Amino acid sequence: MQQHNLVDQTISSRHSVRAFKNTPLDTQTIKDILNIACRAPSGNNIQPWKVYVVTGQKRKELIQQVCAAQSQIFEQPETASRHQETFKYYPEQWTSPFIERRRENGWGLYGLLDIKKGEQQKMQQQHLRNYQLFDAPVGLFFTLSTTLETGSKMDIAMMIQNVMIAAKARGIDSCPQAAWNPFHQIVAKVLDIPENEELVCVVALGYADQTQAVNQLHTPRVPAEEFAVFCD
Ligand SMILES: Cc1cc2nc3c(=O)[nH]c(=O)nc-3n(C[C@H](O)[C@H](O)[C@H](O)COP(=O)(O)O)c2cc1C
Repeated sequence: MQQHNLVDQTISSRHSVRAFKNTPLDTQTIKDILNIACRAPSGNNIQPWKVYVVTGQKRKELIQQVCAAQSQIFEQPETASRHQETFKYYPEQWTSPFIERRRENGWGLYGLLDIKKGEQQKMQQQHLRNYQLFDAPVGLFFTLSTTLETGSKMDIAMMIQNVMIAAKARGIDSCPQAAWNPFHQIVAKVLDIPENEELVCVVALGYADQTQAVNQLHTPRVPAEEFAVFCD
């Protein structure tokens, strides 16, 4: 196969997997993925990324503590203010066309899971799946130094995409997750993350459970003809 076809196929076959098998990943494979992913560019080559590779007992501990915090938020919404993300990932006020795309994505997911409008309990249970890493055996917790600026979030995002593509090329699936960000403090405590680091993203990593309907979600894209402006 031609090189560009291989790359294109790997990029387009990556999708967010939200049900994993419990098959463990080999540590050397994770190292290989990270070593190729860190070929990502970064401004001035500062390579701002840091990643905590979470498995085993630490994974269990994190899941237990964050699921407990999220369950408490469901019961007592006022406790949400105890958990704060270090930066805003989403806007407070959604505008068009983003709000429509966001809705389409949400209802596409809920449709596969047979969750209907108003079924709060089912929605909460699905939201909680984020904090079980969707059963993935590995959680990659990406952090940045708090001394850095917004530009470093671009750098680390490129590195994270490389991780997901390098994983996919090895038959390993992933789901990027911003859902963990509000629980930065719990994560920092469990993983011994120093005070001058902030959690920016989590990637659940493992083998997809193809029997689960949730993994059949195929997300559309607006074509280049609509978002690209060719200025000749
Ligand atoms: C930075 C980032 C954070 C995300 N956070 C979550 C999340 O917390 N939970 C989730 O289920 N999906 C999350 N997603 C996945 C998106 O919903 C998904 O990428 C999008 O719908 C496109 O679908 P695809 O990844 O299958 O192509 C996140 C994606 C990105 C890039």
